[in-house]
Amino acid sequence: MNKEKNRNLFSGSIGFVLAAAGSAVGLGNIWRFPYLAAKDGGGLFLVIYLILALTFGFTLLTTEIAIGRKTKQSPLTAYSKLKKKSGFIGVFACLVPIIILPYYCVIGGWVVKYFIAFLTGEGADTISDGYFSGYISQETEPFIMLIIFLAIVSVIVFRGVNKGIESFSKVIMPILLILVIGIAIFSVTITHTDDNGVMRTGLEGLKVCLVPEVQDLTMKKLFTVILDAMGQLFFSLSVAMGIMIAYGSYVKDEDNLVKSINQIEIFDTAVAFLAGIMIIPAVYVFMGREGMAASGPGLMFVSLPKVFMTMGSMGQIIGCLFFAMVLFAALTSAVSIMEAIVASLMDQFNLTRGQATAIETLIALIGGTVVCLGYNKWYFDITLPNGLHAQILDIMDYISNNALMPIVAISTCILVGWIIKPKTIIDEVEKSGCKMGRKKLYVVMIRYIAPLLLILLFLKSLGILTVI
Ligand code: ALA
Repeated sequence: MNKEKNRNLFSGSIGFVLAAAGSAVGLGNIWRFPYLAAKDGGGLFLVIYLILALTFGFTLLTTEIAIGRKTKQSPLTAYSKLKKKSGFIGVFACLVPIIILPYYCVIGGWVVKYFIAFLTGEGADTISDGYFSGYISQETEPFIMLIIFLAIVSVIVFRGVNKGIESFSKVIMPILLILVIGIAIFSVTITHTDDNGVMRTGLEGLKVCLVPEVQDLTMKKLFTVILDAMGQLFFSLSVAMGIMIAYGSYVKDEDNLVKSINQIEIFDTAVAFLAGIMIIPAVYVFMGREGMAASGPGLMFVSLPKVFMTMGSMGQIIGCLFFAMVLFAALTSAVSIMEAIVASLMDQFNLTRGQATAIETLIALIGGTVVCLGYNKWYFDITLPNGLHAQILDIMDYISNNALMPIVAISTCILVGWIIKPKTIIDEVEKSGCKMGRKKLYVVMIRYIAPLLLILLFLKSLGILTVI
């Protein structure tokens, strides 16, 4: 009891919202969302994403934050406090961030490298053929960058909920928002004429990401878009990784959860949209529709630097601001991923924050080293059940996103929807006297629609469901 009373709390709802938004807004918003939006019919993806964010995303986010605040426990111990036999969900929910953190920090290290390159006026080097693949397969430098990124994350987590996570988020998130808005405005105002004399404008690029392409829409395609949007939403809102339970456990009982949840959803979705507006028009203007085919790291580390360098001297500055923004987004997310594990170690094993942070830093360093080695000494290439080629990083991403996260989310829906009942969560949300909107929707979502969609997503990503 005393331990619960002494639990470090966010000082108020602004601190909580910014920390949770900082967790949500991350690499997922910046490189994955724009690519999926471009691939899945622009505006069609956006409309479906928005509908899912307001229904499915809202349901999972509300559930996890409420579980955290109700139990005042981290993911590893929260589930068994809700229901004795459901402790296994907590183990999975804690395994997810343990697997994600090492590779997230490796990618964070790549961002540090690109930020430094643009800051020191060497952005032009990054566009030479094979630069990115050459860089990540080096033995020493990616490892050093991993250490730098991981060290920053560890120091913030070590400083604790108020002095570390909350203070950092309060400074970084407003800067991040200004940078994203500024670069997005710049991106839609550019024009470029290529070597063949074809002129393209940012506004045309904006149309590509906003106007729904529904001419050749089939049921199969619609289903693919829905599942893509759902998978993205998961990662983007930081649900099913234990994070929102840990952060929820630091929210005061008197805080208005309804308002905070709405704000987190709006922040994350707005940044994802702005990232689309920031990236798609710029890539379209300088590289045409073909340039948009690059995905994931390819888009962020290969296509975009080329776009920046085509802008002349202005490109060095824009590139530097862009990678600073990505770095901030990645740091606040990595901090939350580490916090979910550190909080779990502290609650389960009675460790101090210093001990738990040291242990997790060591685990992430070992895991991150293995990921780095996966691009050189331990390089191999295998095909995953969903058909994608993979190295160690991709395998870890696949296991966490495609297998463990759906398991956590499906089990959570069953636990809340059918065993402890949705009322438990609704009562927790309304505890401070606020009224929960979308209550009926919440009940239908958590009991029926969310588990069904999640099972389909799970089967599809395991390669079992191939008809859709
Ligand atoms: N939500 C975080 C991201 O999108 C993990 O990167």
